[in-house]
Amino acid sequence: TKVAILISGRGSNMKSLIQAAKDKDYPAEIIGVFSNRADAAGLDFAKDHGIQTAVISHKDFNSREAFCDALDEQLEAWGAEFICLAGYMRIHSNAFAEKWLGKMLNIHPSLLPLFKGLKPQQQALDAGVKVSGASVHEVIPELDAGPIVMQGVVPVLEDDDADRLAARILKIEHQIYPKALAHYLKVQTNTDRSAAADQSLIW
Ligand code: GRF
Repeated sequence: TKVAILISGRGSNMKSLIQAAKDKDYPAEIIGVFSNRADAAGLDFAKDHGIQTAVISHKDFNSREAFCDALDEQLEAWGAEFICLAGYMRIHSNAFAEKWLGKMLNIHPSLLPLFKGLKPQQQALDAGVKVSGASVHEVIPELDAGPIVMQGVVPVLEDDDADRLAARILKIEHQIYPKALAHYLKVQTNTDRSAAADQSLIW
C-alpha cells in the first residue's frame, strides 16, 4: 500500500514509520511526506531517506476547503492510497476527511476518548489520571474521534510534568504506530481476519 505521511513539525513518528517500512515484509511503502510548514524538521529526514517531500502552506489559501483540495491534488499526483497523520496540526475539510475515510490514520498522545485536542499530556496531569498513553485511530471529520485501532499505555508518575509525561508517551507512540498501520492494512486486505487478530492491540 502506498502511504503518504502528513507532518507539521519534528516528525519523530514519521521516522518510526519510515524505519518500519524498510522491512521488505512491511505491508506499506512510504511514497511521500507532506508538510504544511516549510520549517518542519522531519522534511530533512525524509529527503535523506530518498522520500519525496512537498510543502504547501495553509496560509496561502483563504479557506480550509481550498487548502485541502491542493493537498489532495498533491496526494493524487503521488499516487497515494493511504494517509498517516503524524503530528499534523491542521484540521481537514469535511470533503477531504470523507474522501479518505477508512484510508487515513492518526496518532494522538492520550488514551482516547479522553483528552482530545491540544496539550493532552497536560490535560492528563490536570485530571489526575494514573495511566495515560497513545492511541492510533481512524480519522473521521470530528477531531480526535474515529474508531481506535491500537493503544499503548504508560504510567503517570508522581513528579511528572507535561514534558516528562510527553517523552514517556512518545516512546510508546513510536512502537505502536508502525504496528497499528501494519495491522490495519492487513485487516483491510485480508478476507480471513484471523491472522491479524493474533496481534495484541494494547501495548
Ligand atoms: C506526537 O505526540 C503525536 O502524537 C501528536 O503530535 C506529536 C508529534 O510528534 N499528534 P512528532 O512530530 O511525530 O515527533
